[in-house]
Amino acid sequence: MAEPFLALRKVSKHYAGVTALDKVDFDIQKGEIHCLAGENGSGKSTIIKIISETVKADPGSVIEIKGHAVHGNKAIDAINKGIQVIYQDPSLFPNLTVAENIALGGFVASHRKLINWKELRRGAEKAMARIDVRLPLDAIVREISIADQQLVAICRALTRDVELLIMDEPTASLTKKEVDSLLAVVTDMKSKGIATMFVSHKLNEILQIADRVSVIRDGKMVGTYPGSELNDEKLTILMTGKKVEYQRFVAGKNGNNPILECQWLSRRGEYKDINFKLFPGEILGITGLLGSGRTELALSLFGISQPDTGEILFNGKPVNIRSIQDAMRLGIAYVPEDRLTQGLVNNQSVGKNIIVTTLDSLVNRFKLLDQGKVTDSIQRWIKDLTIKIPSVESPVQTLSGGNQQRVVLAKWIATQPRVLILDGPTIGIDVAAKFDIHKIIRELAEKGIAIILISEEIPEVYNNCNRVLVMHKGCILGEYDTRQATQEDIQNHVNGAY
Ligand SMILES: Nc1ncnc2c1ncn2[C@@H]1O[C@H](COP(=O)(O)OP(=O)(O)OP(=O)(O)O)[C@@H](O)[C@H]1O
Ligand SMILES: [Mg+2]
Repeated sequence: MAEPFLALRKVSKHYAGVTALDKVDFDIQKGEIHCLAGENGSGKSTIIKIISETVKADPGSVIEIKGHAVHGNKAIDAINKGIQVIYQDPSLFPNLTVAENIALGGFVASHRKLINWKELRRGAEKAMARIDVRLPLDAIVREISIADQQLVAICRALTRDVELLIMDEPTASLTKKEVDSLLAVVTDMKSKGIATMFVSHKLNEILQIADRVSVIRDGKMVGTYPGSELNDEKLTILMTGKKVEYQRFVAGKNGNNPILECQWLSRRGEYKDINFKLFPGEILGITGLLGSGRTELALSLFGISQPDTGEILFNGKPVNIRSIQDAMRLGIAYVPEDRLTQGLVNNQSVGKNIIVTTLDSLVNRFKLLDQGKVTDSIQRWIKDLTIKIPSVESPVQTLSGGNQQRVVLAKWIATQPRVLILDGPTIGIDVAAKFDIHKIIRELAEKGIAIILISEEIPEVYNNCNRVLVMHKGCILGEYDTRQATQEDIQNHVNGAY
């Protein structure tokens, strides 16, 4: 093979008590699409942070670009070497326009005092034309979708002569259509000689675009494989060391009285004429793609927004859920889809994040926090949800993405809800851990908790739920009993709606 654009040789990274990377060898060829796969906490983001020079590898690690060892230690050094990272939240300037976000950086970097606005617009247009995207130059970035923001970030990278673009789980919050167009842009960049390193937990995306796939497990490189030689099953075994597949589960519902019922619930522009019943002990699936109204409905059930018309009954009685406090008082808990921004206090410890929702029950008769109870409660959740952390004192932001998600789950399950609404609970969770989370959900149902499982992954709702509602454009199009319908029935219905 030709000399790689980038090579890592025996790269290690230790944090206090944690080996994040252990003598990793890894290379990226010019213009290839190279995917990195591995379980939560296996070290993927750490590799990215080392390549982008936002963290420093341990002494003895060697990083080469075009055959030359690099010693930079600031992200800007990596940018100057042609490497740019696009995060899930693409860190743009929200109050500037699309054109300014794309092209301003180049002006600043070239130390010019006067900004030539015409030239700036031309630069932005040129970058967009290179990958055949069209975005309104004068739109304020805060007002465009996350998918478009990612495209802005890609265009920005293109104005800086990027040779390697790195994306860490870029598709986690994109609709199917947006994912397709992002993957098309990646393929297009490849034809222009720009390499992409792509991290995703969605194996189908990896298999669709990868020239090569590197698999990392517990900080050690398992190997690098041509994409054409892999399939779902092989990749899963490489990542987890075992074969994992879906098992069907049908929760038994308790009794004939719904705990929650929606009657003709509508909110203008979001969802319309929603009718369903939820029984204790059952897992009710709601599927439909991003934008189908599923999250908006959940937000109303949790008191974050109010329906315009219709009624919500709790335990048979009409209720007004006007705030999160109202919802929590009834025993409704909600695990949001966008956990990273909505679910956690990042610089606080794991322990504090877990107990924040249950402080009331951990206070002793002197109204002081009972430290014994606090520790017990935290330890229990860490064990039950197998959260992998060096210590309960670790700030949440030092956890891997998947482990952060478990902390959010723990925090809400700890409130012992009667109704638990899970919105995309396994987005960003690796295949093996996903089944762990399903197991937790099933056990909660068996304890009598009524669960609403919202997911666009049909196998996930089909294999866990007794009933599945299909949502599209704010309406429920159909209800399936999973003992009678097949997975294909539901899939076809969802596909047909788009
Ligand atoms: N600043 C830090 N301090 C301590 N430990 C850290 C820090 N950053 C990462 N780690 C640990 O390093 C390990 C690798 O984390 P990393 O974020 O690279 O995982 P990942 O493969 O990206 O996982 P995910 O798929 O969940 O995003 C984890 O055990 C994590 O807790
Ligand atoms: Mg990560």
